[in-house]
Amino acid sequence: MVESMQELTLHHELLDSQHAELFRRLADVAQTLDGPEAGVEAAVAALADALVTHLAAEERIMDEALYPERARHKSAHELFMADFLHMRAELHEEGPTPALAEWLMQRIPDWLRFHITVNDVPLGIFLSRRKPQPMGVRPGSGSPGGQRPC
Ligand SMILES: [Fe+2]
Repeated sequence: MVESMQELTLHHELLDSQHAELFRRLADVAQTLDGPEAGVEAAVAALADALVTHLAAEERIMDEALYPERARHKSAHELFMADFLHMRAELHEEGPTPALAEWLMQRIPDWLRFHITVNDVPLGIFLSRRKPQPMGVRPGSGSPGGQRPC
């Protein structure tokens, strides 16, 4: 497990911490499946919030960096979220059927691992190559408004 998590590391503090949170939320969901339906829906709602926050943050980072693969990457997010919202509506209507439990415990974690490996790791590499900044220098922290000290 530790080894596989290392393969999923982007070396990007925000994105890595958000990915870890998504896996924690998925573990929370799995723990609720034997309990009352309201608990499952609450855990899935927390997962949905974390997903929306994460995907938006990642897309903003891609836009700001003018990442060349951003259109394809975003469409992978959109396809996943469309599927997620569809399944969440089904969960609301039918409760945690075996098919929905399998989706929550297997398909979403599988998608996440696949997506991180195939889409996010290359983004992490792009970002790390693009910003070889010396310690203590932040983007935009240069001379304000183009004014230079004499
Ligand atoms: Fe992504």
